[in-house]
Amino acid sequence: MATVDAEPALVAGEDAAVARAVAKRRREYAFGRACARRALAELGVVYAGPILGGAGGAPAWPAGVVGSITHCELGAAAGVAHAADLRGLGLDLESRPRADAIDLLALAATATERARHAALAVTLPVGALLFSAKESVYKCLYPRGGQFLDFADVELALTADGAFTVLTATGYDVTTVRGRFALTPELVATVASY
Ligand SMILES: CC(C)(COP(=O)(O)OP(=O)(O)OC[C@H]1O[C@@H](n2cnc3c(N)ncnc32)[C@H](O)[C@@H]1OP(=O)(O)O)[C@@H](O)C(=O)NCCC(=O)NCCS
Repeated sequence: MATVDAEPALVAGEDAAVARAVAKRRREYAFGRACARRALAELGVVYAGPILGGAGGAPAWPAGVVGSITHCELGAAAGVAHAADLRGLGLDLESRPRADAIDLLALAATATERARHAALAVTLPVGALLFSAKESVYKCLYPRGGQFLDFADVELALTADGAFTVLTATGYDVTTVRGRFALTPELVATVASY
């Protein structure tokens, strides 16, 4: 995760993608790309080209790689894996103060999920977790499936040990999708993979 102030440089091609963007968008894009390049290097992938937006806005990774980029006002993160090891990976970060200011339970949870997580909601920010986890699930599944998902299309079960199970996602086989979450006072972080 990158939280330093200096805006990282973009690779040729990426600059054109945000040439007309507002400064905030350009900055989050640059930090996301910097995280992505670091993640690729740590995976051992030698790639100096741009990471452009592909189908449906998903990053177009070099051949043989799957991955995900996320940003919020506190920073950015990226994760990558060899396509031989994972079919999809989705990451999401949310600023906790911002998430706490919105009724994310009303926005992201189904009635069944609200009932399922009533006990957990005493100790955990269930609305923010379901919101973020569904964003991760979407980012994980969309690049292969290409089908849009709304919050109501995805049904999750969070557990107190920092995991979540994807019970359904309309149009997708989710039997092998695995999810994890982590919380700090500042951030909600989720990851889904399959
Ligand atoms: C893709 C989406 C989930 C991003 O979430 P966000 O919290 O707004 O923003 P984040 O910073 O966490 O993620 C943005 C990054 O997601 C990635 N992304 C965008 N569309 C994507 C897609 N269809 N599939 C996978 N990744 C995608 C991109 O890398 C993007 O950053 P970039 O444009 O700088 O490359 C959101 O923009 C979206 O399209 N939502 C519609 C679908 C949805 O949310 N349904 C409800 C949950 S099921």
